[in-house]
Amino acid sequence: MNSTKPILVISSGAGISTESGIRTFRDADGLWENYPVMDVASADGFRRNPELVHQFYNERRHQLIKAKPNDAHRILAELEKDYDVYVITQNVDDLHERAGSSRVLHLHGELMKIRSVSDPDYIESLDIEHLDTTPSTRGKRGDLMRPHIVFFQEPVPLIEEAARIVSEADIFVVIGTSLVVYPAAGLLQCVRPGTPIYYIDPNPASTGGVANVTVIKKGASEGLRELVSILEKGK
Ligand code: OAD
Repeated sequence: MNSTKPILVISSGAGISTESGIRTFRDADGLWENYPVMDVASADGFRRNPELVHQFYNERRHQLIKAKPNDAHRILAELEKDYDVYVITQNVDDLHERAGSSRVLHLHGELMKIRSVSDPDYIESLDIEHLDTTPSTRGKRGDLMRPHIVFFQEPVPLIEEAARIVSEADIFVVIGTSLVVYPAAGLLQCVRPGTPIYYIDPNPASTGGVANVTVIKKGASEGLRELVSILEKGK
């Protein structure tokens, strides 16, 4: 991080993709696109019914390729002109990248990738013509493959890198997350003392006594427009 630009670190959750037509998790009473979250997003659920889990992520991929980045994703990409922007997202969609953000860390995996069942470091990208996988899908090396999703009950391999990035932030912005899933929610505790924090969410959760938090109680794109004008005034 050798640059003269201030470091702006974003922690995004499902709410940033709402305006692109992708539903959040907990706004729908624990259902994610009509499935109980733990059936389709946990290691136990995957063991119990791998067919269902593959089918669920196949559906999500077909939905994702039709979705487009929204203004919130675009504003974050544009902020790279003035800031070193690091996006740490809990989302498995690729809308930040498609909007032009260049540094995106996916804490919970990526929908458009699959990984080896036996070797978590062996990952392949899916192409748009071959979005569907089953429990018998094999990768180019011959391994059985699974969705590249960090399920509940599994470790989050990128959390240490994310914590380091947050600890170097000059400004930290949390957008569209209910702050209930750990360790992602704990990133708030990794900021250096005195760092300004903004939390954009129409229905914000408690930030548990963390200092310097300005809550912007708005949807992602409207809230980000407000943040940009706050940052402009502070220059
Ligand atoms: P949640 O569904 O828990 O929370 C979504 C948040 O988005 C809520 O706080 C809403 O108020 C907010 N929201 C709704 N509409 C919004 C809008 N237009 N603009 C901004 N915010 C809006 O989603 P996450 O916190 O992202 O993990 O969930 C965390 C993890 O739980 C996910 O990554 C996923 C899930 O199980 C895995 O799949 C491993």
